[in-house]
Amino acid sequence: MAPYRLTILPGDGTGREVIVEARRVIDAFEQFGPLSFDITEIPCGGQYYLETGKEWPDGSFKHCRDNSDAILVGAVGWPDSHLPNGDVAGAQVLLGLRSALDLYANVRPVKLFHGVHHKVHGVFKDVWDPNLVDMALVRENTEGLYHSLLRRSGRAAQGGEKDEPITIDHFPGLNGHVAWDARPISRKGSERVIRFAFNLAERRESRIGMPQKVTCVDKSNVTRGCRLFREVFREVAREHEGVESNEAYIDAFTMWLVRNPEELNVVVLPNMFGDIATDLASVLQGGMGMAASANIGDKHMLFEPVHGSSPKHAGQNKVNPIAAISSVQLMFEYLGSRHDDPDAATCSNVLEQAITGHLASGGPVTYDIGGKASTTEVGEAIAKRCEDLLKKQYA
Ligand code: IPM
Ligand code: MG
Repeated sequence: MAPYRLTILPGDGTGREVIVEARRVIDAFEQFGPLSFDITEIPCGGQYYLETGKEWPDGSFKHCRDNSDAILVGAVGWPDSHLPNGDVAGAQVLLGLRSALDLYANVRPVKLFHGVHHKVHGVFKDVWDPNLVDMALVRENTEGLYHSLLRRSGRAAQGGEKDEPITIDHFPGLNGHVAWDARPISRKGSERVIRFAFNLAERRESRIGMPQKVTCVDKSNVTRGCRLFREVFREVAREHEGVESNEAYIDAFTMWLVRNPEELNVVVLPNMFGDIATDLASVLQGGMGMAASANIGDKHMLFEPVHGSSPKHAGQNKVNPIAAISSVQLMFEYLGSRHDDPDAATCSNVLEQAITGHLASGGPVTYDIGGKASTTEVGEAIAKRCEDLLKKQYA
C-alpha cells in the first residue's frame, strides 16, 4: 500500500508539544508495524501570525485539500494574536478547514479508562477541595441565540399582528450598536450528520456488542433551526428502526450528561451545543487532556485533541499528550475504514490497547490526571508499549 499522505499542523503552544508525542507514536507504527506515512509538517496559528503576518504559509490550504489523506492538528490560538478584523489568528486554519473541506461530523469520544480518576465522583482526592467551586453564573437573557423567539414573542405580547413589520419598539433591549450572528441550520447539513451518528451507532454496536442508542440534543422548543434538526432526526431515525433513538433539550441534557453518563451512547448535536457539551463531557473521562476528536467529511478527514493551545502551560513539557495520541488512534481507525485497509484497522486496535494498558497498569501520567510525569515521559511510555505490542503482533 502506498504511504498515507499525512499533513501535520502543530499550531500553537502546547499543541506543538503534544504533536511531538503523536509523531513519536506514529514513528513506532512505521518502524515496528505495517503503516507508512509521507508526512508534511506545516507551521501555523497565532504565534506564526505574530512572527510572519500570515496564519500559515501560502499554499497550505491547497496542500491540505489536494495532497492529504489525513490532517493532524495540535491546537491553534494564541493570546493577543488577532487579524485586523478581530478574528482569532489561526482560526482560519481550523474553522477554515472544517468548512472548506466539508468536515461535517466532529466525532468526540468520551471514554473513561481504567486507572483514570473521575473528577466528578470526587475520587480525585489530592486536588479535591470544595473551595475550588465558588461561582456565580450570569446569563444574558434577551438576545443571542434566543433572539428570534424573543422577538416574535415580544411582538405577540405587545399585541402585534403577525404580518406587522417589526420595529425597535417591539424589542426595546436591542438598539444602538448590535452584533449579529445568524444561526442557520439546513436540512442537508442536519441529515448527513444525523445519518453519520446512526451509522456510528451501528458500527459501535457490532464492535462493543451492546445496543447503542442515538440521542438528539437540541433546543427545538425555542429555535427554528433546532426544530428542523429534530424533524430530520425523526426522519432518519425511522430509517434505522433497529437503533433506539432518544431526544433531549440541551439544557436538561447537560444535567443528564453529568448525572447519568452511563445512559448515553451516541449523541448528535448542532455545532455550538456540541462545542460546549463536549468540553463538559471531557470531565467525565478525566478532562480535556484525554479528549480526542475526528472531523470527518466525505472526502477529507482531520484529527485533533479537543484541548486548545493552553498558553499558561506551554513550554513546560507538562500537558497530557493522550488526547493527541488518541486522535492518532482515531486517524488509524478512519484511514482503515475509508481505504479498506486491515493494517490500519489493526494498528488502531493496537494503539487503543497500548493506551488502555498504559493507564490500567499505572503507567506514568501527567498532573491533570493525578500524576507527575512529563509530556515526553507519557509519550515515550506509550510509544514503547506500541513497539512491544507490534513486535508481538507482527512477529
Ligand atoms: C473546539 C474549539 C474550537 C471551536 C475553537 C478553537 C474555534 O473550541 O474545537 O471545540 O469552537 O470549535
Ligand atoms: Mg470547543
